[in-house]
Amino acid sequence: SYLSMNVQAQFSYDLQGHRGSRGIMPENTIPSMIKALDLGATTLELDLAITKDGEVIVSHEPWMNPVICLDPQGNEIPDQDKSHNIFQMSFEEVIQYDCGSKFHSGFPQQVKFHVTKPRLSDLIDAVEKYVEDFNLPRPNYNIEIKSMADGDGIFHPNPKDFSDKVLALLLSKISPERFNVQSFDFRVLQYIHDAYPGITLAMLVDNASKYEEQLQELGFKPRIYSPYFVALTKEIVAALHENGMKVIPWTVNTSEQMGKLLDMKVDGIITDYPNLAPRR
Ligand code: G3P
Ligand code: CA
Repeated sequence: SYLSMNVQAQFSYDLQGHRGSRGIMPENTIPSMIKALDLGATTLELDLAITKDGEVIVSHEPWMNPVICLDPQGNEIPDQDKSHNIFQMSFEEVIQYDCGSKFHSGFPQQVKFHVTKPRLSDLIDAVEKYVEDFNLPRPNYNIEIKSMADGDGIFHPNPKDFSDKVLALLLSKISPERFNVQSFDFRVLQYIHDAYPGITLAMLVDNASKYEEQLQELGFKPRIYSPYFVALTKEIVAALHENGMKVIPWTVNTSEQMGKLLDMKVDGIITDYPNLAPRR
């Protein structure tokens, strides 16, 4: 069983489980979130797509990625095939795909079992029930809206409509202090900043050395600046802090690197391996 023993470590920083606990469980699934909670994650990071019948689905790609999913017959999907497009599927079709049984060479320790992509609403219900049943601290949610055109014929919905749909769902289920929206798509951040001023936003970027230009382009200071960790320095962290932002880098997968970033005074760490997070 994937339900483990609720062994909780306490962390003084925001330990964010990337796609749940991707190093251990099939990514962006309910078991991946439950495992992250057991490992002491304070925030659950996840990505969203949306079906043609308007269901918000937890998935990194808006298609059934051949690296992680089997087709409805249980067969492999050819490499690079993006034709199993979630935006063009109903939810009933989405749950025909097993996205947990296939060996993932990037995460060889992942436990393998049949699991389907969940709806965001079902994932939140399962997490909230789990923490209540086992008297665990309530986690926060770091919700990524993936709305940038990816090429190869994948149609992406209008970022405003997508954001409205996601926020209506989130606000109906959890209080706004318990979630933030993150995006690489500045249109999403700008829209939510204007239309939902109370919502915490995290700006996703690749290269922290360009933070001044990035913030200028965005046009406002988000509450959280979330760069790829490699170019981050303690000077950049300090400058962002002076400007009132938190700094939460992604995706940091060794204890040593997590320790270096915590020494730079980052506010949180996004990791596929919450089990490797330093106790501080
Ligand atoms: O939370 C940030 C991180 O998830 C961004 O990268 O590609 O894993 O969504 P990606
Ligand atoms: Ca993400």
